[in-house]
Amino acid sequence: MKTELIDTDPAPTQVVSIVTGNNADLISEVARLYIPDGARVADVTWGKGAFWRKVDTAKFTVQGSDVAPHIGGHGDIVLADFRELPYADESFDVVVLDPPYVHNPGKHMTDARYNNAETTKGMSHNDIRNLYRDGMREAMRVLRPGGRIFVKGKDEIESGKQQWSQTELLLDAVSLGLYGKDSFVLVPTSRTAMGRWTKQLHARKVHSFLWVFEKPTKTDRRVFQVVDEDGYVVARQARRPKHKALGGWVWV
Ligand SMILES: C[S@@+](CC[C@H](N)C(=O)[O-])C[C@H]1O[C@@H](n2cnc3c(N)ncnc32)[C@H](O)[C@@H]1O
Repeated sequence: MKTELIDTDPAPTQVVSIVTGNNADLISEVARLYIPDGARVADVTWGKGAFWRKVDTAKFTVQGSDVAPHIGGHGDIVLADFRELPYADESFDVVVLDPPYVHNPGKHMTDARYNNAETTKGMSHNDIRNLYRDGMREAMRVLRPGGRIFVKGKDEIESGKQQWSQTELLLDAVSLGLYGKDSFVLVPTSRTAMGRWTKQLHARKVHSFLWVFEKPTKTDRRVFQVVDEDGYVVARQARRPKHKALGGWVWV
């Protein structure tokens, strides 16, 4: 029998799912695999544009936008809410979404830089989940079929309870009709601020994540997660009926 040797150690040129460093290191790795040369990219939460500090943007074009008036509307950065972008349908290959992910953040350490408290004032974790969902829906509109959305986020604790943003995002993306193509974990090299818990109830969250979702080329089909008769969560596929007057979705 012929034995085949499989090398499980990736060559240094391969992109791997865990990145150690900062957001710029993360995006440069993700870009190597998922931003083709000549692509049109929309970064719809521009902030400081820190994502693009380590990539060769000569290979593709990046159009930034942000809702904060001190960021959007200056230079090439468009002033826009990512839930209602001023772009044509199917006009981009990649959309990058990095909203503030901390619920009700109050005086957060990144306020001055990112305007987080201003844009998420009074928002609960669920409100932020809906913000992401609305952003992904609009991203789908401006993406060409086969295009990708990079969604950055972090799990969080709200009122002492775990909120699994990474899982919720996948469920929401899939229910919108997106495909979960890949997922990255960023482990920062900088020290993570430690709060003043007197009794630790959960592991301190150090890592963040980035999803790569893909808009399918067949847009008339969508997968929904539903609870079946036995109480199990199952994926069911639905399609838009051909007859427009029927509307809605039909299980297939
Ligand atoms: C975490 S920061 C993004 C940082 C950015 N990726 C960078 O590299 O610098 C979040 C940004 O989202 C923006 N933002 C929040 N809500 C928004 C919305 N509804 N539409 C567009 N931008 C929004 C904020 O103004 C802020 O600049």
